[in-house]
Amino acid sequence: MSAVSSSNSLPVPESEYSRCVRVCQNRTCRKAGAKSVLEAFQAHPVSGVNVTASSCLGQCGNGPMVLVVPDMVWYSGVQAHEVPLVVEQHLRKNQRVAKMLYARFHPKEENN
Ligand code: FES
Repeated sequence: MSAVSSSNSLPVPESEYSRCVRVCQNRTCRKAGAKSVLEAFQAHPVSGVNVTASSCLGQCGNGPMVLVVPDMVWYSGVQAHEVPLVVEQHLRKNQRVAKMLYARFHPKEENN
């Protein structure tokens, strides 16, 4: 028996929620429109992707911040109207949206 299956909690099948989109809802991101960004992701559900409101992601002033895990892809200054592009290109086709990447964690050479 593996360590996971011996725990008391029910395991989540890997096919379910293998990815998570975390949308910061803390102060500065919220002032920049993070609530509507979260709502936009929730309005475009993708199988295997869980969308969650996040506490501060530690990048205040660059938001709204969006972090896709386990990919560890960061998007900054995300606006609600840009969410369908992230959903289609990143979440459905596994291609980062280069023009929206957070430059601090994704240096220019990645932004092609
Ligand atoms: S308030 Fe969003 S990263 Fe800190």
